[in-house]
Amino acid sequence: MINLNNVQKIFNKGKANEIEILKDIDFSISKGEFISIMGTSDTGKSTLLNIIGCIENYTSGSYKLNGKEVKNLNDKELSNLRNEYFGFIFQEFMLIENENVYDNIMNPLLFNSNVRYKEIRERVLNIMDLVGLERNLEKKKTSLLSGGQKQRVAIARALVNNPKVILADEPTGSLDVGMTGSILELLKSINQQGVSIIMVTHDPQVAKFSDNIYMIESGKIHLIN
Ligand SMILES: Nc1ncnc2c1ncn2[C@@H]1O[C@H](COP(=O)(O)OP(=O)(O)O)[C@@H](O)[C@H]1O
Ligand SMILES: [Mg+2]
Repeated sequence: MINLNNVQKIFNKGKANEIEILKDIDFSISKGEFISIMGTSDTGKSTLLNIIGCIENYTSGSYKLNGKEVKNLNDKELSNLRNEYFGFIFQEFMLIENENVYDNIMNPLLFNSNVRYKEIRERVLNIMDLVGLERNLEKKKTSLLSGGQKQRVAIARALVNNPKVILADEPTGSLDVGMTGSILELLKSINQQGVSIIMVTHDPQVAKFSDNIYMIESGKIHLIN
């Protein structure tokens, strides 16, 4: 489903501050896999995740998503593909803090013309059940939630468009040990329902939850388990 071949990423190409972050990334992921990507800071983990999620372009090489070369797609095709394939979650949750739980979760549906207005509420409430958020939290401002609850809202928002792949950038980086465990269990159960997960982490204990662990070093990626 996801195939990267000899992918390179250079920031500020041709300028004095040019920097080659990814040199030669060869990497494939099949449907239903749960993998993690490790590496020290500034090695390009987030950059790679953003390339996979089609929100960052690559300088050279090939990235095929479901057989289509991503750099050949026009903006419209790219945004359709992005909406169809990916849900993102981040360390800092990235919620709209002064809006309530319901509005945060339904936000991506505002850009999805395939979901009818009447279906939205049922879909949001079902996803709240799935991620373990009590339905009576729907009107609560997200700024008033605990870190674990915020990440559940962010995961629900990532799931609302039925993505094929969840891209998670340090999803437990702001959580304590107990919360970390329950969020990882949640990701695992989502994966068992057929959603692929690509999770960036620098924590080996967190990485152990995935089926395969990759390491980024010197602009290259390799399997370490
Ligand atoms: N838009 C950008 N322009 C220039 N340099 C960038 C940009 N984004 C990231 N970088 C640099 O690329 C390197 C890798 O960043 P990143 O992918 O965020 O690493 P990681 O997630 O592994 O910590 C860092 O040195 C960062 O400063
Ligand atoms: Mg990062």
